[in-house]
Amino acid sequence: MAENGDQQQGRAPHIPVLLRPILDLCAPIGGLWLDGTFGAGGYARALLDAGADVIGVDRDPMALQMAEAWRGTYGDRLTLVAGTFSNLDQYSDTPLDGVVLDLGVSSMQLDQAERGFSFMKDGPLDMRMSQDGPSAADLVNTADETRLADILYHYGEERASRRIAKSIVEHRTRAPIETTLQLAEIVARCLPRPKPGQSHPATRSFQAIRIAVNTEFTELAEGLMAAERALKPGGLLAVVSFHSLEDRIVKRFFQLASGTEPNTNRYAPQSTLNTARFDIVTKRAVGPDDRELDENPRSRSAKLRIGRRTTAPAQTLDPQALGLPEPPPQKKGRR
Ligand SMILES: C[S@@+](CC[C@H](N)C(=O)[O-])C[C@H]1O[C@@H](n2cnc3c(N)ncnc32)[C@H](O)[C@@H]1O
Repeated sequence: MAENGDQQQGRAPHIPVLLRPILDLCAPIGGLWLDGTFGAGGYARALLDAGADVIGVDRDPMALQMAEAWRGTYGDRLTLVAGTFSNLDQYSDTPLDGVVLDLGVSSMQLDQAERGFSFMKDGPLDMRMSQDGPSAADLVNTADETRLADILYHYGEERASRRIAKSIVEHRTRAPIETTLQLAEIVARCLPRPKPGQSHPATRSFQAIRIAVNTEFTELAEGLMAAERALKPGGLLAVVSFHSLEDRIVKRFFQLASGTEPNTNRYAPQSTLNTARFDIVTKRAVGPDDRELDENPRSRSAKLRIGRRTTAPAQTLDPQALGLPEPPPQKKGRR
């Protein structure tokens, strides 16, 4: 889920986004589904209630702990896995009937100041979904200025990326940047004051740093390919994205995998180049209807795309073919 003003302020438990169109477009639901972004379990519960067995995957241990309170209701029909969806083909020996991915962070993650995702609440500059590995503070305090600017530009589409990166480096030479509000303030000072109705000036920078900390685009590209390997013929892949950078990757994947775009994949054998591995179910991305927008304004940037697996063998795509925005790697020894 993208970070925007509503999400930052939200206190309610996570409300599943675009769940109704997923259930309608994927009906009848049954067999074995994998929910690669379990979160509060909203999708998983709906899939279980519709008749499927579910493998729920989340990289955030907190999400799986919260499920302990209710998972007993479903007995062994619900299996929980702590892991990333980039490896989702390793979580079941049985080919899957469906995979759902609801990208980004949950309301619970945004709402807990100590997780460090929110520029509206003071907390440690963390942003790690899995709660391990380098944090946002590590990135912000050690990446060289060019890399910081590239991350802000490529992952946040922040046009003032160079100005913000310069200011971050100036601040951290005096003292490390350790909290969310410190960073939000540094970013806000680099940008014009927002007009009423405009988003907080730190929105794009926080999105960019969160994406970098959690390697979200690599996860997405790998996850789509893993789903292709894991689904049985006829199985469905449903992906909900929350900003244009994510949606572009998903759209491109389905274009290439369905043969609606010429496949120039240099890894694929010539004989398989234009064989459709997915049929497109959603010709255009599906967004929230007026009712969902009314009930859950956080859904407003959500886009759903669905494909149905064919019998063609799975392929490995060059992530570059998916148009992954990739800032160049950090140069060694520079700060
Ligand atoms: C938007 S929430 C999902 C909400 C869920 N659909 C629901 O209805 O409750 C996204 C969840 O996916 C998890 N997540 C994000 N990227 C992941 C990845 N690469 N692998 C596994 N889990 C991931 C986050 O930790 C978060 O809990």
